[in-house]
Amino acid sequence: MITFKPAVLSSLLAGVILSLGSLAVVASHDSDESIVTRISAAGSQCIEGEDCTPEVAVVAAAPAGPRSGEDVYASGCAACHDSGAAGAPKFGDVAAWSPRVDKGIEKLFSNAWYGYKAMPAKGMCKKCSEDEIKDAVIHLVDNSK
Ligand code: HEC
Repeated sequence: MITFKPAVLSSLLAGVILSLGSLAVVASHDSDESIVTRISAAGSQCIEGEDCTPEVAVVAAAPAGPRSGEDVYASGCAACHDSGAAGAPKFGDVAAWSPRVDKGIEKLFSNAWYGYKAMPAKGMCKKCSEDEIKDAVIHLVDNSK
């Protein structure tokens, strides 16, 4: 590990200050104070051609929060439950859903999560959380009774 002795550190600092000083002389003969003000202002200013919205970029890159039941349904469950593929009870089909609703919502949650006959576990949505699957079941059931 490299450790700086205070003397070395201060001579380093002095070097930095000196070069800043000569920069000031060469650049515009401004006072040191105004140089500092301008240097720190540059950090917060938006330079042409650069992305000036870092906050927005960070938000966009962050993982999306839990998806709504409607979103999960549309992006996965609908493939079978809209068409009735493989004998899936269709979305909105009250007659097909009523005997299933009678099982109780907890049973439907666990059958959707673990799979049930031709119904694949999690509706094949491997990265879906338990809450997302539950919300998708609620969305499906609430619109089918
Ligand atoms: C590959 C097709 C397919 C996909 C995708 C699918 N399902 Fe199903 N689902 C079925 C079939 C088929 C059944 C009927 C199973 C049976 O009773 O034989 C079923 C039944 C169900 C049931 C009733 C279970 C019961 O106990 O009666 C629920 C609730 C359900 N699905 C929820 C979902 C949800 C939520 C999703 C999406 C996350 C989903 N399904 C995705 C095919 C699918």
